Amino acid sequence: MRIATTQTFPGSAWDELQDLTLLESWPPVEPLPGIEVLVEAVVAVGPEELDLLPDLRLVANYGVGYDRVDLAACRERGVAVTNTPGVLDAAVADLTLGLILACRRHLVASDRFVREGQWRRGWARPELLGRDLEGATLGVVGFGRIGRQVATRAEAFGMRIVFHGRADGLPLDELLRTADVVSLHVPLTPETDGLISQERLALLRDGATLVNTARGAIVDEEALVEELESGRISAGLDVFADEPRVPERLLELPNVVLTPHVASATVETRGAMTRVLVDNVLAFLRGEPLPNEVVA
Ligand code: DGY
Repeated sequence: MRIATTQTFPGSAWDELQDLTLLESWPPVEPLPGIEVLVEAVVAVGPEELDLLPDLRLVANYGVGYDRVDLAACRERGVAVTNTPGVLDAAVADLTLGLILACRRHLVASDRFVREGQWRRGWARPELLGRDLEGATLGVVGFGRIGRQVATRAEAFGMRIVFHGRADGLPLDELLRTADVVSLHVPLTPETDGLISQERLALLRDGATLVNTARGAIVDEEALVEELESGRISAGLDVFADEPRVPERLLELPNVVLTPHVASATVETRGAMTRVLVDNVLAFLRGEPLPNEVVA
């Protein structure tokens, strides 16, 4: 059975896949008959791409988020889709806390302050005064595996937790009005696309921090840039609406910390994601049930 991949993946499990075709471009420049398994990360897989892979039976998606894979188009053609849930929750939660600390305690600005030689007097000066995590309220939007791990870590810092879940917790607007820090942990779906709209951004308290390690399109990015330019709020952003494009206007702002979609990027976690991905492909090759089939 022929397998094509858009890239190689870290970790020893990767070596268990034999006879891989490494695609030089995505989408492929010409049809690729005979390819039955596509291993991919962060590429669009829709009707046009599927037309180029007429014999495809499985899309093995690297990552828990599969928003770039058109599930309906895959189902129509009898193509199964798998993802890699469960192994990246801790790493994403860790980076979320990192971004919260970076924003609330001006870590990046402080680093720049030292490097640029601006630290010329003692420490007891008013620049770079941050805000305590202890006693502040964290609003977790999406209370699944990752959201809960973020809450556990934030509790250890003495934060008060409120959350908005699918079926429980605070109404979203109330959470946005209440929290000092809001962290997003919902998948990108038609329902969550633009969930944090201009109107909802305006509900955030003065001085609040928005952290997004989920998907950029969950927030109205243009409206977010405007809020950040006003200086009213701060943000820690690991994800963007049109990656790897980052709105240029963000680059000079002191009240935003930017990272390049690295929430799951640790040696251990990315290796574990590869293990899950490979297990799904191996199960498919053996004709066994797929451990992590995504059902629309
Ligand atoms: C995922 O798995 O979808 C994450 O965004 C990777 O960091």
